[in-house]
Amino acid sequence: MSKITPPRFDNPLFVAIDTTDAGRAAALARAVASSAGGIKLGLEFFMANGAGGVHAVRAAAPDLPLFLDLKFHDIPNTVAGAVRAVAPLAPALLTIHASGGPAMIRAAREAAAEAADRLGIATPPAVVAVTVLTSLDDTDLMSVGQRGPSGDQVLRLTDTALAHGAAGVVCAPTELVRLRGRFGAQPLMVVPGIRPADAARGDQKRVMTPAEARSAGADVLVVGRPITGADDPADAAARIAHEIAAAELTGAA
Ligand code: C5P
Repeated sequence: MSKITPPRFDNPLFVAIDTTDAGRAAALARAVASSAGGIKLGLEFFMANGAGGVHAVRAAAPDLPLFLDLKFHDIPNTVAGAVRAVAPLAPALLTIHASGGPAMIRAAREAAAEAADRLGIATPPAVVAVTVLTSLDDTDLMSVGQRGPSGDQVLRLTDTALAHGAAGVVCAPTELVRLRGRFGAQPLMVVPGIRPADAARGDQKRVMTPAEARSAGADVLVVGRPITGADDPADAAARIAHEIAAAELTGAA
């Protein structure tokens, strides 16, 4: 499968809006619209609100790229159908599980390209692969028949994903340097587990600040609760955007 050129985002800050409440999601999107580089909607939101809810959020922040994080994992035909079904929402990014295998990854990529072509969408959704869920330790991996240590499994699955048409991977901040070392500058690295220096860690164990993650090679920084759980989400997003911009200007990230 031919290599693809992943999309690049001038503003890497994608705000993860994880709620079942479409009204709250739209209000959050509106609040962060001037500071964020994109909005991430995931399973929790999509299962509660479907495509209609996604449209409502997009209407609240029409200029922001959408990251649809539904982590597809099924037979290739079904994943291709799911990609076609969400293509009219014009996500810039969508996720699949790399462990679905080569044919599934190719099917997702091909369906994204075909659907964008059919719908007249200039840039097809970039297919981004999840490798090993950060909730799995080495014992868990073995229990589902995968070989650890998990860092090595992340490399194997990234290799498979990129070889079969994924534009990049979702990875923990602590995996960035190793992945960039192995796979170079081209693949899109989408990174959750980002916490501003003064924020609570929540249940994220392997965290970095936005500036640290950019410096380690992140293209997209996924930040949820430090913004959505703040008393003033607009201010929290603006501060993080400022922290990123300041670090990049000084090169001191
Ligand atoms: O609230 P928080 O900043 O922890 O949100 C992180 C977002 O990234 C959530 O939407 C979560 O589902 C997602 N994510 C993650 N860890 C991964 C993969 C995705 O936290 N390993």
